[in-house]
Amino acid sequence: MSIIDRIKVKARENVKTIVLPEGDEPRTVQAAARILAEGLAKPILIGNIENIRKTAQETGTDIGGIELIDPEESSRSDSYAQELYELRKAKGLTEEDAKKLVRDTMYYAVMMVKLGDADGLVSGAVHTTGDMLRPALQIIKTKPGMKVVSSSFLMDFPNKNIGYDGLLVYSDCVVVPCPTAEELACIAVSAAETARDLCGIENPKVALLSFSTKGSAKHELVTKVQEATKLAHEMAPELELDGEMQFDAAIIPEIGASKAKGSTVAGHANVLVFPDLQAGNISYKITQRLGGAEAVAVLQGLAKPCNDLSRGCSVEDIVTTVALTAVQAQSV
Ligand code: ACO
Repeated sequence: MSIIDRIKVKARENVKTIVLPEGDEPRTVQAAARILAEGLAKPILIGNIENIRKTAQETGTDIGGIELIDPEESSRSDSYAQELYELRKAKGLTEEDAKKLVRDTMYYAVMMVKLGDADGLVSGAVHTTGDMLRPALQIIKTKPGMKVVSSSFLMDFPNKNIGYDGLLVYSDCVVVPCPTAEELACIAVSAAETARDLCGIENPKVALLSFSTKGSAKHELVTKVQEATKLAHEMAPELELDGEMQFDAAIIPEIGASKAKGSTVAGHANVLVFPDLQAGNISYKITQRLGGAEAVAVLQGLAKPCNDLSRGCSVEDIVTTVALTAVQAQSV
């Protein structure tokens, strides 16, 4: 069974409510109907109700049984605006601005998740990554004990000899452009949690990647990864985690054994932590396009799950991301 199929099975075991703020977008409407029919989550579509119904009609989608909410008409908008004002007044948000913001579908949906009226959120078929992320970062914030929100890509290979039964977790490929050593350590710990809680990898083996293995090169960028490895050990001493190491030393047993003698991670890593966003983002795309892996992204480190879609996403991608979000919500 593929990782996505396993996640869908898990999503059905404890059904969560997932809000979709791009409620009148055609792929989102079709995905919501499939999510409900397949029992993956209870979807809520946010948007102008007339527009949502029109999209459903145009796409031949039955949206019976799906809750529809228009922030302009919602009885909750005033209380959400008040809560939003309380949360952001120290940052200069006025009551008037808060009232305007909750009428935006994205902010309304984030407030639903914040206040427990939904368990998670999926957006990004229309919004850019930044526009989707900012309200989540500002309002939902990080989970206790975690300083940074980041992402993992689940890279699912047809060759099941790679990684953990064909799965490698890549982090961070979406959020933090240039992490400090402390942020990199947080990313490593979060990626291990994603591997364990979402992917079912009981003992994640986490490698912090570099162009150097165990001091083979000397450079300030290498020093940063060494520091991050030390900090990650302090944050999560129980984790099987090692660095700094090159990609081949991380995943090829013979090279790991020769370049990083005695390491239980080298040669067997299934969670790969990249030193910055350029390395991570480029690597996941090379793996996807040239390595033939399926790539699915999740955000990690948020207090409640919110996930981003690519604007080129398919209906299937939205269904999958909602299932992932629902499973993340099970462990909040
Ligand atoms: N973790 C936790 N909190 C964060 C993070 C983070 N990684 N980044 C920003 N924040 C918080 C800030 O502390 C701030 O909180 P506050 O307002 O309460 O003080 C709030 O979020 C907003 O911060 P800004 O600095 O104003 O946000 P910024 O404009 O830097 O945007 C963003 C943050 C969107 C994550 C930015 O770093 C970004 O654009 N990252 C890259 C996204 C991207 O384009 N990825 C690649 C494409 S995606 C793909 O290929 C799949």
